[in-house]
Amino acid sequence: MSGIRHLYVHIPFCASRCDYCDFVSLTGRADQHSRYVEALLAELELERERPTPELETVYLGGGTPSYLEPEALRRLLEGLPAAGELSVEANPETVTTGLAELLVEAGVNRVSLGAQSFQPRLLEVLGRHAGPDDIHRAIEILREAGVDNISLDLLYGIPGQSRDDLGADLDQALALAPEHLSCYELEAKPGTRFAHAHGAELPEQADAVEDHLELVVERLTASGYRWYETANFARFEPERDLRSVHNLGYWRGHDYLGIGIGAVSTAGDLRWRNAPSLSRYLQALETGKEPPRETEALDEATKLRERLMLGLRLDEPVAIAEVEPVLDRGALTRLSDLGLVKVEGGLMTLSTRGRMLGGAVCAELIVWPDETLAA
Ligand SMILES: C[S@@+](CC[C@H](N)C(=O)[O-])C[C@H]1O[C@@H](n2cnc3c(N)ncnc32)[C@H](O)[C@@H]1O
Ligand code: SF4
Repeated sequence: MSGIRHLYVHIPFCASRCDYCDFVSLTGRADQHSRYVEALLAELELERERPTPELETVYLGGGTPSYLEPEALRRLLEGLPAAGELSVEANPETVTTGLAELLVEAGVNRVSLGAQSFQPRLLEVLGRHAGPDDIHRAIEILREAGVDNISLDLLYGIPGQSRDDLGADLDQALALAPEHLSCYELEAKPGTRFAHAHGAELPEQADAVEDHLELVVERLTASGYRWYETANFARFEPERDLRSVHNLGYWRGHDYLGIGIGAVSTAGDLRWRNAPSLSRYLQALETGKEPPRETEALDEATKLRERLMLGLRLDEPVAIAEVEPVLDRGALTRLSDLGLVKVEGGLMTLSTRGRMLGGAVCAELIVWPDETLAA
């Protein structure tokens, strides 16, 4: 199997653990950063047959990639294959001139900065360490170092966040003129300290949050951003397409290789996920073995359902013929009559309203396995 054009590299280390986060992350461990990087490069070497020689994208996500010890980060970036888009996630408080220069020298051409909010009160609810000044300073440093593609992550639905609070966050984000914005509804992930502390509040404020996505879309599209994916916005520029090429790969159903603890890969009919244990990962790769992982065979219908659900998150169409075997034609007519889906020339896209409702519309459009059996 070969021909993978997207590489995801998971960096699990963070300065501290945010209460709402359920990503694979470990605090501190500076003494293990170099060992982890060597293990990542060893895993990549084991998988060398899979990626194409010239990758389209490499994405360092976390955790907090910008928290890696600088020498370990440099070694990693030097050891990774070249790619057209090389993105790194960063937390504002970790951005120094030294880090920004290291990234630019190593060819990083896109930085995704986890701002979340600009309001100290809300950042405190989230347990974030960076304040609004850190976010401003991080952007200034990155710009000065020459990073000309910055994405900002924002959260809405934070307990105690009003519509005006969200409007103020959007204004502050827009004033920084990022090339890209990701705006996520805060989820209480099961098992997190946040779910324990605030899990009951989120459903209570569901009504208040209902129109938050609407506000996000209105404000950002009016400011010259393309709403190209449910939670993602790219500034319109005549010369550059500022959408995340890496994430477009996922949404378009391309194969991808993920390395590191907890990383997921999909290639053809197979999906595998590395175990989240750091010690087992290091032990395996230091003795030349594949890391412990779980592998799942993907049947055609599962792949098509994913293609439909992910593809309809985008503002570009999905070919009806491509997903026909899992498409509920009756639901398509019904939803199209309701103005939630647009059908034209064998292609379908969700209308603005359909995109606001998102997952619920896709769930209606899909024939699920029990329905197939019943039919
Ligand atoms: C891999 S995470 C973390 C990146 C980076 N360490 C940070 O904290 O900014 C990427 C993004 O996922 C989003 N995210 C994390 N936890 C979330 C949650 N419980 N609900 C919704 N979005 C979440 C945040 O916006 C975050 O910036
Ligand atoms: S939200 Fe980011 S910084 Fe916080 S624990 Fe998760 S990955 Fe680490």
